[in-house]
Amino acid sequence: MNRMPTVTEAQIIAALSSVQEPDLKKDLITLAMVEDIALDTDNNVSFTVVLTTPACPLKEQIKQSCIDSIRTLVPEAAAIVVNMTSKVTSSCSHHHCNHNRPLKEVKNIIAVASGKGGVGKSTFAVNLAVALAKTGAKVGLVDADLYGPSIPTMFGMQNAKPEMAEKNIVPLEKYGVKLMSIGFLIETETALIWRGPMASSAIKQFISEVEWKELDYLIFDFPPGTGDIQLTITQTIPLSGAIIVTTPQDVALADVSKAVSMFRKVNVPLLGLVENMSYYELPDGTKDFIFGHHGGEIFARTQGIPFLGEIPIDRAVREGGDNGIPYVLGHPDSATSNAIIRASMEVARRVSITNAEHTEEHS
Ligand SMILES: Nc1ncnc2c1ncn2[C@@H]1O[C@H](COP(=O)(O)OP(=O)(O)OP(=O)(O)O)[C@@H](O)[C@H]1O
Ligand SMILES: [Mg+2]
Repeated sequence: MNRMPTVTEAQIIAALSSVQEPDLKKDLITLAMVEDIALDTDNNVSFTVVLTTPACPLKEQIKQSCIDSIRTLVPEAAAIVVNMTSKVTSSCSHHHCNHNRPLKEVKNIIAVASGKGGVGKSTFAVNLAVALAKTGAKVGLVDADLYGPSIPTMFGMQNAKPEMAEKNIVPLEKYGVKLMSIGFLIETETALIWRGPMASSAIKQFISEVEWKELDYLIFDFPPGTGDIQLTITQTIPLSGAIIVTTPQDVALADVSKAVSMFRKVNVPLLGLVENMSYYELPDGTKDFIFGHHGGEIFARTQGIPFLGEIPIDRAVREGGDNGIPYVLGHPDSATSNAIIRASMEVARRVSITNAEHTEEHS
């Protein structure tokens, strides 16, 4: 005779309704994060939790909360199998995102910017892209620095040329990241004589004429400064949010304020601030705060921008940029890599929190 489970799907749903997603501050059922609930005749339970970022630092905590809740509220349940998977949310519920926006298959476009030059924007953008790709996310990276493109060198692709598919450019790909840079298309010397409008239209082409296909995150490595080009990019590209990179130095921070104001003026959410070149660790383990102490963190707090962490000065970070092997790939287990990866996971987390907040505002 066929037996039926005595535990019901409704009981499981009820139990999971009391599990909160700690960042999004709602329960898993309201957030539609539970799929494929299955019960067998022995009351074994299985289901899938769909997280909003593959890099979710709260994964284990959420999984355990599901098990605890079912154990408490549905004591007849036998084995409980929780499958954890992820689907990155899109920023397309933002107020500035109309449904005719270009790049519909790109869920989130993230600027990495700073008013100041040489603070490590490109270094962070490259390592962020690679770190996110390593978690299984689909990632693209645009070098928006037309006058001084650095992505080709940082990926060891100085001589690579993208192919065309009909009228569109197929992005190059390395280390699991799709790439586009003006450096792949023309000689760098030619770019130096470009005028502003030409530069803006080139950037627009990176959006409209490159076959990005489906992406969870498209990262835009901004050029230094807060001039016309930066403003045009900020206004024409449907950015999900911006990350500010700075060193702790006061001079840098004055320029950084300008970048912060620029994004605020056009309502681009500030996802967070990364303090790069925070200190240099001496052989005896003490830290030399070459560019000042915690300047970036203090600035982030006073501006109300989430602080994503500090990255020390590390010779191997510079070498990774020069030799085309992004640092987090070349030195995956070092303390500096951990700092970069932690900041990158925090970026993914801020994107999903920002998307959830905007969805709420517009629902
Ligand atoms: N944490 C770090 N430790 C050591 N070197 C670093 C670190 N971060 C960046 N660098 C080095 O500092 C230099 C400037 O970094 P990067 O090119 O990433 O800055 P940027 O802000 O993109 O500059 P630009 O404004 O010219 O675009 C590079 O040589 C890079 O390798
Ligand atoms: Mg750069």
